[in-house]
Amino acid sequence: MRIGFAFTGAGHLLNESVQVAEKLAKNHEVTVFISGAAEEVLKMYGLYDCVVRLTGGKYRELATDSNQKFSYPITGRLSIGKYDLLIVSPATANTVAKIVNGIADTLVTNAVAQAGKGAVKTFMVPVDIHPGPVDTVLPSKMEMSKCQNCDECIAAVTCPEGAIIPHDEIDLTKCVGCGLCRNSCPYNAICEGKIITIYMRDIDIRNTEKLSSIDDIQIFENPFDILEFI
Ligand SMILES: Cc1cc2nc3c(=O)[nH]c(=O)nc-3n(C[C@H](O)[C@H](O)[C@H](O)COP(=O)(O)O)c2cc1C
Repeated sequence: MRIGFAFTGAGHLLNESVQVAEKLAKNHEVTVFISGAAEEVLKMYGLYDCVVRLTGGKYRELATDSNQKFSYPITGRLSIGKYDLLIVSPATANTVAKIVNGIADTLVTNAVAQAGKGAVKTFMVPVDIHPGPVDTVLPSKMEMSKCQNCDECIAAVTCPEGAIIPHDEIDLTKCVGCGLCRNSCPYNAICEGKIITIYMRDIDIRNTEKLSSIDDIQIFENPFDILEFI
């Protein structure tokens, strides 16, 4: 099969989505689409390189908001039926809200719109699906309770991206999730994979409900569920 696999900028279910894309790329032609936010968030979680490794060659490109400019020409392939399937996983509340309102002003929302025009089925994994609390994983984070205010912050010196603001926080717009800071701080003041609980907003849940009523869009709770349909 020829599949478009789109990532948006959600940390929730991101690791699982990358694993599913890796599995699919072994047996199918997979073109990867990433939103601008996905490019940043994939880096924060140290997953960007895994996604880049999936790409190379015709129909295995890495399409980004920046390399597709403002008109997203690569999505035209979806409107002329060059793909068998489009997957959007994870799908942020933002991307879902745009899609249910017919907005197509990013690479991923445009891909969904063009897939609809080309009668290409779209499988989506919206992160905001059930009301109530959800546990989710944070990218690397500085734990101020453990920081000893060293005169020279070894983590900041070690970080090749200059992302550590000593005794303060990590600038996530610079972080590439390499983990060198975690290993260098002698006081373990930088933690990875911290779980926090967030609460779904009603408006996002309502948008996900609307999403499931759009023709040619099928929603899934977990990216791994998609594998049973391929
Ligand atoms: C570390 C991190 C994790 C995020 N996780 C989520 C998430 O799980 N769900 C969500 O809707 N937005 C999440 N966001 C916010 C989105 O990235 C933001 O709304 C962005 O504008 C979405 O753009 P996109 O829909 O074009 O990808 C996260 C942002 C950061 C920095």
